[in-house]
Amino acid sequence: MNHCIRISSLLVAGAALLLSACEQPPVQSTQTGYRGTSMIDLKHPATVKKLKAANAIPDVVPAAPADGPRANEVFQNIQVLGDLSAAEMSRLMVAMTNWVAPKEGCTYCHAADNMATDTYRKVVARRMIQMTRHVNTDWKAHVGQTGVTCYTCHRGNGIPQNIWFNDPAPQKFGWAGNDAGQNRPAKSVGRTSLPYDPFSKYLAGDASGIRVESTTALPSGNKTTIKQTEATYALMVHMSESLGVNCTYCHNSRQFASWEESRPPRGTAWYGLRMAGQLNKDYLTPLTSTFPKERLGPHEDVAKINCQTCHQGVNKPLYGVSMAKDYPEIQGIRAMPAVAAAANAGAVVGGAAAGSVGAAAAAVDAAASAVSGDR
Ligand code: HEC
Ligand code: HEC
Ligand code: HEC
Ligand code: HEC
Repeated sequence: MNHCIRISSLLVAGAALLLSACEQPPVQSTQTGYRGTSMIDLKHPATVKKLKAANAIPDVVPAAPADGPRANEVFQNIQVLGDLSAAEMSRLMVAMTNWVAPKEGCTYCHAADNMATDTYRKVVARRMIQMTRHVNTDWKAHVGQTGVTCYTCHRGNGIPQNIWFNDPAPQKFGWAGNDAGQNRPAKSVGRTSLPYDPFSKYLAGDASGIRVESTTALPSGNKTTIKQTEATYALMVHMSESLGVNCTYCHNSRQFASWEESRPPRGTAWYGLRMAGQLNKDYLTPLTSTFPKERLGPHEDVAKINCQTCHQGVNKPLYGVSMAKDYPEIQGIRAMPAVAAAANAGAVVGGAAAGSVGAAAAAVDAAASAVSGDR
C-alpha cells in the first residue's frame, strides 16, 4: 500500500514537472481565413506579455524648429543632413544617441575632441541615416505610413541583436562529414534541420527562385530540386518565426503557391523580401571595407538585415506604433524651393540606386545653400 502511494505521488510529481514546461491554457486563437479553411492564428498569452514588454517605445525627444540657420552653416562636416536646421540636426543627434548608444553617448560615434572628425561609426551612421530615409520614402509598399527609425533595428544597441553573416556549407569534408549546409538545429530556421543560411541565397539582393511548386497537375518540366524546395521552406520558417505567426497568416496551406487564396500580408511580405535584399545590397555590403575586421563575419562579410532585424517576433515591428511620424528629420530629404528640389530629387534617386553617397551629399549641400541664399 505504502509502495503504491509512493509510486503515485512520484507519478503526480512527474506529471507536474512535464506539464509545467507547457504553455498555460487558454491559448488565444483568431480565425484569419474563411470558415473551414483552418486558417487560424494562435497566440500564447505569456509570450504576448513578454513581447509587449520588450516592445515599449522610448520617450519622444521634444520637436525642434525647422527654420533658423541650416546645419551646414553652423557645422563643418555635414554631408547628408544639410536640409535640416541646426536645431533639428542637434535634436536628431540626441534621438540617435537614445536609439543606438544610450549607454555610450555621443562618443560612440564621435571623437571626443572634435565632432567634425569622421570615425568609422560616424561614416556608417551617415549611411544609416540615408538608408532610414530611403525606407521611409521609397518602401511605403512595405512599411506603410508607420515607417522606421534607428530604434526599429537597434533597440538601444550599437549592433542590432538580429543580424546575419554568410554561413555557406563547409567546403571540405571534416571527420563528421559534410552537412551540405543543413541538418543542424539552427536558430535561424526555428531549430529545424532545414538549410541554416537561406539568407545569402534570397536576402542578398536577388529574391528570385523562391517559387518551387509546379503550376500544373501532371509533371511537365518543373526542374526544381528537393534541395531548392528545402531552402524555400527554410526561408518561410524564418519569416514565420520573425513575425511570430504561422504559415496560414499568409497562405491557405491547401495551396501554398496560390495568390488568390492568400491573405493580404503575403503581398506585404513579397515587398519585404525585396526591400531587405536591396538594403543589404545597396547599403550594408558596400560598407564592408568601412568596418574594422573584427566587426566582419567569419567569411569577412558585413552584418546584414533579415526579417527578424526589424520584426523581432511581432507581425508589425513595435506592434505597428509609428515612432517615425514624430521625426520629420528622417522622413526623407526636406521639400525645397523648385530649383533646389529638382537637384535634390535627382540626387536621392541616383544616390540610392547607384549607392553614390558623394553625389547625393553634394546635391543636398547645394540645395541647402540655395535655400539659405533665398532667405
Ligand atoms: C549613431 C552615431 C552618432 C551619435 C550617437 C551622435 N552623432 Fe553626431 N553626428 C553623426 C553623424 C553621422 C554626423 C554627420 C551628419 C552629416 O554628415 O550630415 C554627426 C554630426 C554631428 C555634429 C556636426 C559636427 C561638424 O562640425 O560637422 C555635431 C555637433 C554632433 N554630431 C553632435 C552630436 C552630439 C552632441 C551627440 C550626442 C548627444 C551626437 N552627435 C551623437 C553621428 C552620431
Ligand atoms: C533596417 C535596420 C537598421 C536600421 C533602420 C538602422 N540600422 Fe544601423 N545597423 C544595422 C545593421 C544590420 C548594422 C551592422 C551591424 C554591425 O556589424 O555593426 C548596423 C550598424 C550600425 C552602426 C555601426 C555599429 C558598430 O559599432 O559597428 C551604427 C553607428 C549605426 N548602425 C547607426 C544607425 C543609425 C544612427 C540609424 C538611424 C538613422 C540606424 N543605424 C538605422 C541595421 C539598421
Ligand atoms: C509573412 C507571410 C508568409 C508566411 C508567414 C509564410 N509565407 Fe510562404 N510565401 C510568402 C511569399 C510572399 C511567397 C512568395 C515569394 C516570392 O514570390 O518571391 C511565399 C512562397 C511560398 C512557397 C512557394 C510557392 C510557389 O509558388 O512555389 C511555399 C511552398 C511556401 N511559401 C510555404 C510556406 C510555409 C510552409 C510557411 C510556414 C512555415 C510559409 N510559407 C509562411 C509569404 C509567407
Ligand atoms: C526595415 C524594417 C523591416 C524589415 C527588414 C522587414 N519589415 Fe516587415 N514591416 C515593417 C514595418 C514597419 C511594418 C508595418 C507596416 C504598417 O504598419 O503598415 C511591416 C509589416 C509587415 C507585414 C504586414 C503585417 C500585417 O499584419 O499586416 C508583413 C507580412 C511583413 N512586414 C513581412 C516581412 C518579411 C517577410 C520580412 C523579411 C523578408 C520583413 N517584413 C522585413 C518593417 C520591416
